[in-house]
Amino acid sequence: MARLFVEALLILGSVEICLPSQQDVRWVVKVPAGRSREAAAIRLAEERGLEYVGPVEPFPDLFELRLSRKTVESRSVDHGIGQLDDPSVEDAVHAELSGHPAVEWASKQVPLKRMKREFIDPAFPRQWHLVNRLEKGHDTNVSGVWKEGVNGAGVTVAVVDDGVEWRNPDLRNNYNADGSHDYNDNDKDPSPNLKAKYDNSHGTKCAGLIAAGANDICGVGVAYGAKVAGIRMLDGMVTDLLEGKSFIFKAHVNWIYSCSWGPEDDGKTVEGPGYVAKEAMELAIKKGRYGYGNVFVFASGNGGINDDNCNFDGYANSIFTITIGAVDELNSMPYYAELCSAMLAVTYSNGHTQGDRMVVGVVRGLTVYVQVGVVRGLTVYVQ
Ligand SMILES: *[C@@H]1O[C@H](CO)[C@@H](O)[C@H](O)[C@H]1NC(C)=O
Repeated sequence: MARLFVEALLILGSVEICLPSQQDVRWVVKVPAGRSREAAAIRLAEERGLEYVGPVEPFPDLFELRLSRKTVESRSVDHGIGQLDDPSVEDAVHAELSGHPAVEWASKQVPLKRMKREFIDPAFPRQWHLVNRLEKGHDTNVSGVWKEGVNGAGVTVAVVDDGVEWRNPDLRNNYNADGSHDYNDNDKDPSPNLKAKYDNSHGTKCAGLIAAGANDICGVGVAYGAKVAGIRMLDGMVTDLLEGKSFIFKAHVNWIYSCSWGPEDDGKTVEGPGYVAKEAMELAIKKGRYGYGNVFVFASGNGGINDDNCNFDGYANSIFTITIGAVDELNSMPYYAELCSAMLAVTYSNGHTQGDRMVVGVVRGLTVYVQVGVVRGLTVYVQ
């Protein structure tokens, strides 16, 4: 409990009492009856040598009173100077207020210990790409912007991929159905086809990296306050038209288009967006997001092992896209990463071993591990 420290100085025969300014002892009193409650509260303050602070809005019967120099001075007459630093002044005032006939109750305001909540997501401690407790500095340094309140709130990121399992409990609350579409099945629901022989969890992993919720499930997304939309287009025949439609779908709802794919990374393919895709991207970056422009984020590719180079990837080197490369947990370039001049930034991705992988979310009840990226705390890509 806060103690009241009072110093007494004897100067030219008068008593000077210094109440350190940080000592601020207050009560809230309830004065329940009568039409002139406030007058009663003011009278009470005067009687007890307290400062009347004012009513506690919007409650008609609560009033705030405060210990002042006057309180202590008036009591020094009773108790003598030698007892001025006695915290029993507070106790005496409290007893008087509590026992007063006009007062239903008096509550002394004591400092309460309140801690900011850490994430309770059970896998958060293992999300080293967000906050690395082992290798300090080897992370995306995102916790500072979270503390500033920047967590993606108000932003929708469209994951242009093989679908998004938006019913996943770690994604459901951050799902934006309005920005979502399924170009493979031509409907509004971008849920992936999980019955396929091949894996269709890529888009869901991307969505988890971006905006898995802050809850008691798995981990958090880098922008856990953002919304994700799913634009399903990779699970079928991909054409220029399909890419173009995806890049401009709901361009005011979706602010960022996250595309973690590209032409083959075999070191032999030189390919880029076709006519419609290019037109769509250009229109989106000029007119989308109510004229502020959409942001296209592309992964640089995984063809490092084939000596592929993202300069030969027309999506990565487009002036309309932001291309992100990979670094591993040692801040080194992993064997699969590609080099190119189009790469604007790098971020953490898989290391060399399973243990270095990143926790991104839950897919069909299993914890999944994938690689991650972040641009200014907002968006993400996956390779
Ligand atoms: C980490 O982010 C904070 C702002 O949140 C910034 O002041 C600091 O310089 C950053 N550290 C590094 C190593 O970039």
